[in-house]
Amino acid sequence: MHWTAITLALLVQHGVSQRASMPMMRFECSQLVVDRIDPLVNPGQMPAPHLHQIVGGNSFNASMDPAVHDLPTASTCTSCTFSEDFSNYWTAVLFFKARNGTFKRVPQFVSSGLKGQGGITVYYIAPYDGKTKVTAFKPGFRMLVGDASSLDKPSAAKDPKVCHRCMPKSGEGSGVECAASSSGDSLALPKSPCAGGIRSVITFPTCWDGKNTDSPDHKSHVAYPTSGTFDNNGPCPATHPVRIPQVMYEVMWQTQAFSDKSLWPADGSQPFVWSTTDKRGYSQHGDYVFGWKGDALQRALDARCNGDVCSAIKTQSADEATKCTLQRSVKEDIDGWLTHLPGMPMDA
Ligand SMILES: *[C@@H]1O[C@H](CO)[C@@H](O)[C@H](O)[C@H]1NC(C)=O
Ligand SMILES: *[C@@H]1O[C@H](CO)[C@@H](O)[C@H](O)[C@H]1NC(C)=O
Repeated sequence: MHWTAITLALLVQHGVSQRASMPMMRFECSQLVVDRIDPLVNPGQMPAPHLHQIVGGNSFNASMDPAVHDLPTASTCTSCTFSEDFSNYWTAVLFFKARNGTFKRVPQFVSSGLKGQGGITVYYIAPYDGKTKVTAFKPGFRMLVGDASSLDKPSAAKDPKVCHRCMPKSGEGSGVECAASSSGDSLALPKSPCAGGIRSVITFPTCWDGKNTDSPDHKSHVAYPTSGTFDNNGPCPATHPVRIPQVMYEVMWQTQAFSDKSLWPADGSQPFVWSTTDKRGYSQHGDYVFGWKGDALQRALDARCNGDVCSAIKTQSADEATKCTLQRSVKEDIDGWLTHLPGMPMDA
């Protein structure tokens, strides 16, 4: 289980004594829809430039104007285990490019220990000391990690926030989560077939300016700690003094059906490509629009909820969560062997 991997990583970093106080919310949000819209970066634009996979509350749509769109009241269901969480979470979509040049969407699967249908494993993490206060997001809050147009290695390569792991047949593999120095993770897509699929992890900033629920680049109102790590209580910059929970996405891609190397490019390069046309892997990104009902997230954080069961907040079964889906708003083929990626030029 992923939790175990993080625990081990922290044991290495901080010593065994930390172990008793490292609760973190970790829960499944099943697939809501795979669609070519993006209310954060391209509000109102239908279709948006590239395909996303989206989970969470079913009020998700192309506009979601924060001034009027209240996710908990506009949604009638959520695909997440915690049934008061009507937030929306989304990322790029992974495709396989066959030797004959056609693309096939890579199926997703659920992280170990959880139940549902594809989608995203969502984490909300508080500092592991078990007492530092974290402030839940305000209605209208949204943020973005990564850069869909990034075809170059991110400059923050020392401290990557979007990374990939080539998963072993079973278990987690080793290495500290999303650390450039770790043997387990890479900024680029893995170069060889992965027996357990590809895991993509996206880690959001944990310090907030305390004022703005969004910013023009959807990033400047939040920041990463100036040193150390959030979970180890690294300090927030003076400009962004408010500690918010660490939101993290874990997305599992079932690449095993495409492991036959005779289908891979003849030059030996890897065949997977993000829906942005990026073959290297640097353009994966995560979008977040906060939508918890009332004070449910604050209650969960204060109670130091752990895993996907917590008496402080309501849960629903995987059966109920997977029933919450949306019709795609952009009608186009996304499931066949495609001659081009949705929205992208032929030669992508
Ligand atoms: C999105 O939902 C809001 C509120 O439910 C609605 O007012 C708006 O028209 C919808 N926008 C689109 C593009 O469907
Ligand atoms: C391209 O290759 C894929 C994978 O081998 C195959 O399923 C598909 O039918 C091929 N398409 C064409 C047009 O040859």
